[in-house]
Amino acid sequence: MGLNYLVTGASGQFGALVIEALLKTETPESIGALVRRPEATAALEAQGVVVRQGDYTDAASLRVAFDGVERLLLISSSEVGARAAQHQTAIDAAVAAGVGFVAYTSILRATESPLTILPEEHVVTERALAASGLRYAVLRNGWYSENYAMGAGTAVDLGALYGAAGAGRVSGAARRDYAEAAAAVLRGDLPESGTVYELAGDEAFTLAEFAAEISALSGKDVPYVALDEAGYKEALLGAGLPEPLAAMLADSDRGAAEGGLYSEDRSLSRLIGRPTTDWRETLRAVLVPDAG
Ligand SMILES: NC(=O)c1ccc[n+]([C@@H]2O[C@H](COP(=O)([O-])OP(=O)(O)OC[C@H]3O[C@@H](n4cnc5c(N)ncnc54)[C@H](OP(=O)(O)O)[C@@H]3O)[C@@H](O)[C@H]2O)c1
Repeated sequence: MGLNYLVTGASGQFGALVIEALLKTETPESIGALVRRPEATAALEAQGVVVRQGDYTDAASLRVAFDGVERLLLISSSEVGARAAQHQTAIDAAVAAGVGFVAYTSILRATESPLTILPEEHVVTERALAASGLRYAVLRNGWYSENYAMGAGTAVDLGALYGAAGAGRVSGAARRDYAEAAAAVLRGDLPESGTVYELAGDEAFTLAEFAAEISALSGKDVPYVALDEAGYKEALLGAGLPEPLAAMLADSDRGAAEGGLYSEDRSLSRLIGRPTTDWRETLRAVLVPDAG
């Protein structure tokens, strides 16, 4: 059966927001949601969207799931280290199924980023798309403000915000902003194949500013404690994080210190037709959710 849209990673936070955004203008039956776990199906079916089953590690499942799809949003896998191969499997399946357009969620300035861990697989996937013959666009998403906001409660408990981003500025935007941009690219007149969107928040913050805002919202003194990459990784390991996650977060912060999460590109606010969500608002929603 034909489908105008298929969103992979639909059980995830980003995918759910893209579907929500698409539903504002498109009919539910024109939107497909790809999930790998049957238990993720019910909530999506309740929205009336078409649920298809598929796993990035199972080429045959994707080949069937992509059948008749005109516009595919390939949301990058959360399985860091395994995902370049997973994305290749998805791209091959899209070619075999004759998908008309693929948008892929990459990372800000993937090819020039000072971050070393996260961009690697995105660059491999961007190259795979370019070599595939598919019509495609790359959504190079900057940092979700939520990434830092989620740690704010811990910072309050610890009495300090630890990080290795130095005085680096982070052009964060809300996950919802990036999701609306993805929906805008999918639903509109298609961009020229190979278009790369550098997507970032309108306003940047340093971790010292972030800590000051945590202090203001919590009423407690939560200073920013600047560690180097190795020190931050040790602190994360000490807090019980698994080694690959600690290494990735420390590397990303060190990259941020070198400007890797900063951008003056305004493509994100242009695509969504409004300013990006203020990082303070995202922080407040996480730290004081009942404040409205
Ligand atoms: N820009 C940023 O700051 C930032 C931050 C975090 C993540 N990201 C990237 O953006 C993506 C979307 O973010 P998110 O917040 O929505 O992450 P998320 O909530 O962890 O969602 C990840 C999605 O990928 C799916 N997935 C993972 N492995 C899969 C596989 N083998 N086959 C099919 N689907 C698979 C997950 O399915 P299940 O529900 O079955 O696990 C889930 O739907 C992440 O996966 C990550 O690559 C970006």
